[in-house]
Amino acid sequence: MPVTETKPETAPPLPAGEVVVTVRGLTKVFKDFWGRPKARAVDNVEFEVRRGEVFGLLGPNGSGKSTTVKLLLGLLHPTRGYIEVFGRPPRNVATKERIGYLPEESYLYRYLDSAETLDFFGNLFHLPPGERANRARQLLEMVGLNQVRRRTVGEFSKGMQRRIGLAQALINDPDLVILDEPTSGLDPIGCREVKDLILALARRGKTVILSSHLLADVEDVCDRVVIYYGGRIQAMGSLRELLATPDRLRITTPALPRPTLERALDILRQEAGDREVLLDTPTQNLESYFLGVVERAKQTELTSGAISGARGRRCAAALDTATPGR
Ligand SMILES: Nc1ncnc2c1ncn2[C@@H]1O[C@H](COP(=O)(O)OP(=O)(O)OP(=O)(O)O)[C@@H](O)[C@H]1O
Ligand SMILES: [Mg+2]
Repeated sequence: MPVTETKPETAPPLPAGEVVVTVRGLTKVFKDFWGRPKARAVDNVEFEVRRGEVFGLLGPNGSGKSTTVKLLLGLLHPTRGYIEVFGRPPRNVATKERIGYLPEESYLYRYLDSAETLDFFGNLFHLPPGERANRARQLLEMVGLNQVRRRTVGEFSKGMQRRIGLAQALINDPDLVILDEPTSGLDPIGCREVKDLILALARRGKTVILSSHLLADVEDVCDRVVIYYGGRIQAMGSLRELLATPDRLRITTPALPRPTLERALDILRQEAGDREVLLDTPTQNLESYFLGVVERAKQTELTSGAISGARGRRCAAALDTATPGR
């Protein structure tokens, strides 16, 4: 059935609070050469993002995350529906100046080095030369690329390209940062650093929208998420709401003698009736275990390329006070 392009609907009333992004009835149907609908990439999606929130678009491959991001940026035209970013349509120039974007694939000039890359993007935002150099230095330090600032980005590993892409997305000190798969290609230390950076941005009052299919990334940083499947929102809410199991409780104690535990378990089992009472040893997740192993190994070994680990984390922490200001 042919899908007709329709004009955006009129704006619905905004709820109380500082809403940065409003999306209503958003639909994007890609068409083939003859104008026949080919893929319904985004289907009647609705959400709001507030200032200072870290908002996650979660979903399997091909579920519509990147298409949503491109619609929010005004890079694609919706087939139907309404989008407002900072109270204006996404294509508005003043709106675009307040947004930083890390695309799924970074489009970098392979013969420029990292400092020149940031200088180039800073120039696009009409930043004066001194300010550009200042921001470039701070951002390269923050993403752990200062030591390789004179290496051309064409020689960068995938993870290093992700890092320079992230620095580029922040060059205009944006109020809204949109990150499409920010941790793809990064090692676990790089992932942790990017996540710390995202949290630091949120603490500074920035709004972050990130898309990912990596559940651990989303779980660690997002306040609220939407879960996509087939272009439609299947679930939405805070992680606390979505993941809560209010009918279960966990008690964590130091390792106690077995007879003490048996006494406690007897009491709990009497109360629980035929419902299960479990005793187990909490395990750390693989990420924190991995980071511990690497941190110990780093005491004796040196790595080349991107700087990672505690130094990068310190830089993310320093962002609270030392990122490029307006
Ligand atoms: N330019 C395009 N032309 C035609 N179809 C497209 C286009 N871009 C995306 N699609 C289709 O829209 C659907 C959603 O794609 P999208 O890139 O938004 O998914 P995604 O959730 O970002 O996936 P991934 O996790 O793989 O990045 C897919 O079926 C895809 O094939
Ligand atoms: Mg994508």
